[in-house]
Amino acid sequence: MKANAMRCDETFAWKKLQHHALGFAGFDLRTAFAQDDERAVALSQTAPHVLADLSKNHIDAATEVLLQSLAEQTGVAAQRDAMFRGEHINLSEDRAVMHWLLRQPEGSLSGELAAPLHDVHSTLSAMLAYADQIRGDAQITDVVNIGIGGSDLGPQMAVLALRDFALPAKRFHFVSNVDGHELAAVLAGLKAENTLFLIASKTFTTLETLCNARSALAWFLAQGGQDVARHFAALTTNVAAAAAFGITTTFGFWDWVGGRYSLWSAIGLPLAIAIGAPGFRDFLAGAHAMDRHFQQTPLASNLPVRMGLMDVWYRNFLNYTSRSVAPYHSALARWPAYLQQLEMESNGKRVDRHGQALGYSTSPVLWGEPGTNSQHAFFQMLHQGTDTVPLEFVAVKQATHGLKDHHGLLLANAIAQAQALMLGQPDDGGHRDFPGNRPSSFLLLEALTPASLGALIALQEHRVFVSGAVWGINSFDQWGVELGKVLAKDIHARMASGDATGLDASTANLLRRMR
Ligand code: F6P
Repeated sequence: MKANAMRCDETFAWKKLQHHALGFAGFDLRTAFAQDDERAVALSQTAPHVLADLSKNHIDAATEVLLQSLAEQTGVAAQRDAMFRGEHINLSEDRAVMHWLLRQPEGSLSGELAAPLHDVHSTLSAMLAYADQIRGDAQITDVVNIGIGGSDLGPQMAVLALRDFALPAKRFHFVSNVDGHELAAVLAGLKAENTLFLIASKTFTTLETLCNARSALAWFLAQGGQDVARHFAALTTNVAAAAAFGITTTFGFWDWVGGRYSLWSAIGLPLAIAIGAPGFRDFLAGAHAMDRHFQQTPLASNLPVRMGLMDVWYRNFLNYTSRSVAPYHSALARWPAYLQQLEMESNGKRVDRHGQALGYSTSPVLWGEPGTNSQHAFFQMLHQGTDTVPLEFVAVKQATHGLKDHHGLLLANAIAQAQALMLGQPDDGGHRDFPGNRPSSFLLLEALTPASLGALIALQEHRVFVSGAVWGINSFDQWGVELGKVLAKDIHARMASGDATGLDASTANLLRRMR
């Protein structure tokens, strides 16, 4: 990408936002609603499959106008278009960023992207045919996904989210941690002849995944398993390494798919097995609908843009350091964990895309748990703590169970919490005093389906893109995970040898105690 986009903190809009934020100290949601009958409508936005009510946020029309100027002055739309043209916007790895191509309809692009799109669809067809074959294979009752980070969090979150659409005859297990307790507990309930292991690793070099894969293979052979080609498949860009490992059934993808953006590729195979080919195609179509919204809708009514810009406003001008997420649906239990990687691995950067140190904050801390459980855990702090933490609700209108009362109670709680955070309840400043004026966003889906989940995830991907684009960072590399990997290798060798030479006193002490 060209280096022409202005640094956000050097733009005129940034200065104006700083000034605007000063006047915002006295902003109160209750007053804002009282003064503006149109607020709820103006700050609600529909996008494919998602309705977002952003009106209970610390933002007003003037803020949004200034944020849109910031987006223009930092070239957000140009950066978005560069991504959709397949330019190498991941500068530090010299790669294109094209996870969106994985959900692009067949034959819909001409020029340089026609060939990769064709490859995408051939691989997708092969993977979906394999998924259907496994679905029809009554002998395979258990599918074990071995992978970590993006090769785990996406499929794990989505298989759970779409459990109502899943084949009941298959059980899904996700093993990610190098902690052998995790794999051992899963293996204890399995039979080799009934198990399919999916070794999911973009690079096929990740220590945890290779260690777990080796143990799974050893277990399989020790149980008398013979047909490795039938019981192991690799999902990877490094087909050669998988073959060297001894796995010949492979589904590939490409270096232009980031790990945390890879659920749409072969990494989505567990989901494809769970919900079948039509379901997986609906999932892709939902995400594609959001891609089109992001590409084609003017900034002022573009949901990922509005949300991403609000993230910048909160982080850099109102100085909110974290965002909490509360899905009001138990099938979205892994939603917060999934978003943590998406947001913090993408935007947890301290240099710009050219490696220059930044003078402003980037990714907020992301955290959360499903409601209503979270109401009985950390909501206390959201209501009455000293910090302001914006909360993002996700609610689903239709339930798929027939239990009386539950869903009404669940949804009522979600609405009531958003209301309580905003309204508060005065009580002379004592223990029972709720200050109110606490911000929240409310995302509503009609139903949790493959298509709506696809759209919801793509919305989050693009929202992270927008804040990263304003900040001028590379949202698509993750160098920050490398140092720990190198040091762990060194410490592992020292644990065997006992050699603590050159280590700091604390590390040496821990090493001695753990040997
Ligand atoms: O944690 C770093 C990371 O590279 C993630 O970005 C990635 O999702 C994960 O490790 C797993 O990598 P791989 O799929 O190559 O095993």
